[in-house]
Amino acid sequence: MRLIIQPDKERVAEWAANHVARRISSAKGGKPFVLGLPTGSTPLGMYEKLIRLYRAGKVSFSNVATFNMDEYVGLPHDHPQAYHRFMWDNFFSHIDIPEKNVNILDGMAKDLEAECARYEGAMEALGGVDLFIGGVGADGHIAFNEPGSSLSSRTRIKTLTSETRLANSRFFGGNPALVPSMALTVGVGTVMDAREVLVLVSGQGKARALRHGVEFGVNHMWTISCLQLHAKAIIVADDDATVELRVGTVRYFAEVEAANLRNDV
Ligand code: GLP
Repeated sequence: MRLIIQPDKERVAEWAANHVARRISSAKGGKPFVLGLPTGSTPLGMYEKLIRLYRAGKVSFSNVATFNMDEYVGLPHDHPQAYHRFMWDNFFSHIDIPEKNVNILDGMAKDLEAECARYEGAMEALGGVDLFIGGVGADGHIAFNEPGSSLSSRTRIKTLTSETRLANSRFFGGNPALVPSMALTVGVGTVMDAREVLVLVSGQGKARALRHGVEFGVNHMWTISCLQLHAKAIIVADDDATVELRVGTVRYFAEVEAANLRNDV
């Protein structure tokens, strides 16, 4: 695992956007480069910076396909808090991605299980995900893989914890009862199948999650810890998120990254 520590969330966003743009631009032509994408407040800065890189002609999404991590069950696509709406408003409408290359789980599907199976099939048909990007919940969840999720889970319906509904109620006028109780989400196993995984962590509220992801053992109660089993996992965190890590951990990862910088990795 690489742990890249940046001074603040602005720099986390910048690092992530540059990394994504570099990966897309260095992909060989032919099949689309396949990105897994998150919602939430953490990745917003990365989307803004990617839009800027696109406008500056530094990256094109014309041969990129995307798969979003999750979607609420029962919210129409144009609902202000639907992840469909979030992604089009904050990212897709501002770049040159072909609409047909955008994949988002349909939380309004009549047969939700069939929808999940279709989604897995669509990823496979494109040769799998090249780079899965994620955020993390305060309880360590990635996508909507709540504590206790199987570490080999695939895309499925998930009941949200009351903690997650409370955390996300800030987008629903502060009322947890308005947050849908269920979501469709890619599984931990789905994320782990990607060739590379990049998780963004920002703020002191995520410090415990980061500690469990980096210093503690692999555990289904902190699904972020699955990254320890991935051959190419990167966590980019801001200083605030590192407050619960040991000084020695922070120092070691900083030394590794200083060496990577010298060697232009
Ligand atoms: C939701 C999403 C996750 C996201 C998490 C944290 O639960 N399903 O994918 O990582 O929120 O969101 P934020 O970045 O707003 O803290």
